[in-house]
Amino acid sequence: MVAVTSQRLGRMLGPLPGRGPLYAELAERLRLLAVDGRLPDGVRLPAERELAGALGLSRTTVAGAYALLRELGCLKSVRGSGSYVVLPERPAGAAPDEAGVLDLTKAAMPAASPVADCVRRAADALGPELARSGYEVIGLPRLRIAVAEHYAARGVPTDPDQIMVTTGVQHAIALVARTLLSPGDRAAVEQPTYPHAMDTLQAARARLVALPVTPAGWDLEAAAAAFRATSPALAYTMPDFHNPTGASLDPAGRERLARLAERHRTVLVADETTALLDISRGPLPPLAAFAPGSVTLGGLAKLAWGGLRVGWIRAPRAMVGRLAQARTSLDLGTPVLEQLVAAELLERQDVLVAERRHRLGEGLAALGGALAERFPGWAWTAPGGGMSVWADCAPLSSSQLVVAARARGVALTAGPRFGMDGAFEHRLRLPFTASPDELRQAVAAIADAASDASSGPARPPLIAV
Ligand SMILES: Cc1ncc(COP(=O)(O)O)c(C=O)c1O
Repeated sequence: MVAVTSQRLGRMLGPLPGRGPLYAELAERLRLLAVDGRLPDGVRLPAERELAGALGLSRTTVAGAYALLRELGCLKSVRGSGSYVVLPERPAGAAPDEAGVLDLTKAAMPAASPVADCVRRAADALGPELARSGYEVIGLPRLRIAVAEHYAARGVPTDPDQIMVTTGVQHAIALVARTLLSPGDRAAVEQPTYPHAMDTLQAARARLVALPVTPAGWDLEAAAAAFRATSPALAYTMPDFHNPTGASLDPAGRERLARLAERHRTVLVADETTALLDISRGPLPPLAAFAPGSVTLGGLAKLAWGGLRVGWIRAPRAMVGRLAQARTSLDLGTPVLEQLVAAELLERQDVLVAERRHRLGEGLAALGGALAERFPGWAWTAPGGGMSVWADCAPLSSSQLVVAARARGVALTAGPRFGMDGAFEHRLRLPFTASPDELRQAVAAIADAASDASSGPARPPLIAV
């Protein structure tokens, strides 16, 4: 069973504010780490004495925290063997569905208006498919042609043989990781990055290498040094509206990243989940235009609807063959009806892009206004697109704020979930995908939570997730 060392856990926990009983604060933090997936189910925690030493706390404090976690069902201690995290009843990633809780843990919007009509059209188009077997491991030809045309229109000529349809982009990331990585390989990821990609790369037993990104852009000097030092097998990037910062990589940066990857024989993977969510930036050539051997991941979750579960991989032909071979032990294709819906939606791309631009523009304006009013001291940059703001909430601790905000009815993800080993404790990702009214309410609730966190009475430990 995997164990977490006391040093690593100390970094993940960050400083404890010490405004209430310390054992309860420690339990709260540990529970937050389990709830948002940073401490996986079954991981062994350090012995009480060892953790107390690493955190500079008394053993009684750690013992009290562990006892509370056991009481809450979050920890199981086995005599002579240790204490193990027990997955909360609500797993990481599940929506907090209690009435009145505003979920800002996900950057996602309700279905765009053309979706319902496209579903009806797809149902009408299903007839001829019913006469076939329905097993399409690399995807329906109609959709693969539509995706290839989508790339051609963006300046990268693409053959349908370079496209594999997947069941969402997350599935595509997993397929790419299991096909291209061997245990122990280095995989470069931006820091911060999309947490589920980091989880997937770690599940493939890759060793992660950091490529620093801020809302102002990529630190390409640091990236060059990281490539030189590690020659990663794969580099996972989000050049167009990076999650969570909203930054986009400029053309010179794309060129530089492409040459770095070429020099170090690194497979460059561009996750374009949010590439078409442009608010004010304007189009840029995709990373694939600079790196012909690269892999591009795309999908319709953000542009149209997350419930659709359709994505795709654009890759060199030979790699599509390898991916198809690796796929069949996992699944045998994406549902045909959904693929037809996706093909219909791609024909209405302009409508989708315009609708999302409008909604996200309104959301960003509302969030920005509310932040300026309630948190004038926070530093943040309005991105040209994407779905979130990466705010600097110093001196507040993001983990502490997340716990306090939850008690005020707003579910957020703490900054360190987007980084390795406890980085970003003063950062908060604020998606602007909710309605303007909801965003204003959320920021007001976060402001109340901030005063709870910095001065108010200690709240009881997090019971409801
Ligand atoms: C960068 C990034 N990649 C992938 C995904 C998952 O996409 P899908 O819903 O298509 O699996 C998300 C969802 O939030 C994302 O932000």
